[in-house]
Amino acid sequence: MSKKIDTGISGLDELVGGGFPERRVILVIGGPGTGKTIMCSQFLYKGMYENQENGVFVSLDESKDHFYSEMRKFGWDFRKAEEERKFAFVDATRMSRVAMLKEELYKEESRSLRGKHLSIDKLIEDLQAKIQQVNAKRVVVDTLAALTYRFPDPIERRTAIVDLIESLADLGVTSLVSTELGYLGLERNALEEEFLVHGVIMMQTLFSGGTTTRAIQVEKMREAKVNPSLVPYSIDQDGIEIFPNMPLFGEK
Ligand SMILES: Nc1ncnc2c1ncn2[C@@H]1O[C@H](COP(=O)(O)OP(=O)(O)OP(=O)(O)O)[C@@H](O)[C@H]1O
Ligand SMILES: [Mg+2]
Repeated sequence: MSKKIDTGISGLDELVGGGFPERRVILVIGGPGTGKTIMCSQFLYKGMYENQENGVFVSLDESKDHFYSEMRKFGWDFRKAEEERKFAFVDATRMSRVAMLKEELYKEESRSLRGKHLSIDKLIEDLQAKIQQVNAKRVVVDTLAALTYRFPDPIERRTAIVDLIESLADLGVTSLVSTELGYLGLERNALEEEFLVHGVIMMQTLFSGGTTTRAIQVEKMREAKVNPSLVPYSIDQDGIEIFPNMPLFGEK
């Protein structure tokens, strides 16, 4: 059984059975605005400053400047962490939808860009170099959903995702990988990624009686005794906090 590491998110260690299993890949699934990026960043930031575990953030949909300024709002100074060589940012936004649209506008560039810079292999190489550079123990990939536009063909996309997740598992780091919920309803189909990873955490916004509640659930965590309940969480200026003992829709 692997060692557990602090998640850095108040209430989450308790839900996942004492922390994230070290060196494993955990998938964070959630709809838009559920706090996936904040959760992943908090895991990295607390890791660096409370657990002496350096981190790498691979961004598929936000630029470095945008990410740094968003995270400053929570008091997390990733720029400083980078200067202190605790942290590295891998800008993989070339894989994003916006990049694709731009490429369509400047067609002549697109072929070389696609061929040279956009492969998952290149991304994995970049990531490996950054992990070594800062001796990272924690990695975030945010978000696999951005690959949908880069790899519209489902088989190519699946291959890319399998390669990425398998490489993360081989790199000796604990990883959080985010993706979007494809379908929200009483029942949903499992995403292919869910079968490839060690753990799955689901973040949702629920609507009831005219109010909305943020709710989180650990859907799976191999080798751990988890609390599988759907429980409330909040986002405020300190980041994400989970309330494992509070009822959903209950009095606050
Ligand atoms: N200081 C704050 N107080 C309360 N809520 C906040 C605060 N800062 C951000 N939020 C909320 O956090 C959410 C955005 O978080 P985040 O960017 O992590 O979501 P996401 O799941 O990554 O979204 P996307 O799908 O757009 O990438 C928004 O719903 C926003 O309302
Ligand atoms: Mg996000």
